[in-house]
Amino acid sequence: MNKATRKTIIAGNWKMNMTPSAAEAAVKETAALVAGKDGCETVLCVPFVDIHAAVAAAKGTNVKIGAQNVHFEAKGAFTGEIAADMLLECGVEYVIIGHSERRQYFGETDETVNKRTKAALAAGLKVILCLGEVLEERQAGITAEIVSMQTKLDLAGISADDMKNVIIAYEPVWAIGTGLTATPEQAEEVCAIIRGVLADLYGDTVAQATTIQYGGSMNDGNAAELLAKVNVDGGLIGGASLVPAKFAKIVDAAQA
Ligand code: 13P
Repeated sequence: MNKATRKTIIAGNWKMNMTPSAAEAAVKETAALVAGKDGCETVLCVPFVDIHAAVAAAKGTNVKIGAQNVHFEAKGAFTGEIAADMLLECGVEYVIIGHSERRQYFGETDETVNKRTKAALAAGLKVILCLGEVLEERQAGITAEIVSMQTKLDLAGISADDMKNVIIAYEPVWAIGTGLTATPEQAEEVCAIIRGVLADLYGDTVAQATTIQYGGSMNDGNAAELLAKVNVDGGLIGGASLVPAKFAKIVDAAQA
């Protein structure tokens, strides 16, 4: 973390978990546990159908609500998709775009990730843009090339001014849901590479101001050492975000 130049953000990604009533209870419990913990921004990214209950439960607390995807068109014949202004009107502030599960199982490409990011930013949402290498790429020694390429393609045409509302989440695919966490050194190395690409694209001031999270089996036991790294500005947390007590401990670790 480097709180002098950028915000620390701890975000939960609930993925396809929690009914609306469970969401209401979990947001309330989380909000009570993180009350007054203003050393980081705390976000929960919930399934679309939970947004209404989650936003109501988060009202007046320091928990912000995010969605897990958004379509790039404003409206029309796109069965099953959700537009940015729909999310905004529901009280959503953040949206995850380009999660590896979307890329892997639902055909997302850097091109559609870029289009969704532009649409979300144009509407006024804050974007948590996910990228990261798969195991074969790490083993082949091409992690730096892969994340650099993703960063450039996903941010193509996005202005320096818009970068105020972009958070990058570095999520090595081999660490997601596997219990295998990147070491703090591995996370730091890649987050620094991404920041270097941002510096090339937008200059050093923007690069230093951009929050870069780590995601992949981050939990209450390993968060502190990951967040101790200067280029790791927070976390995007899956499994551990479903348990308010665990998630709140990660928020605690981000207060330092
Ligand atoms: P886990 O924390 O369950 O590994 O998930 C990470 C993730 O994909 C967050 O978006």
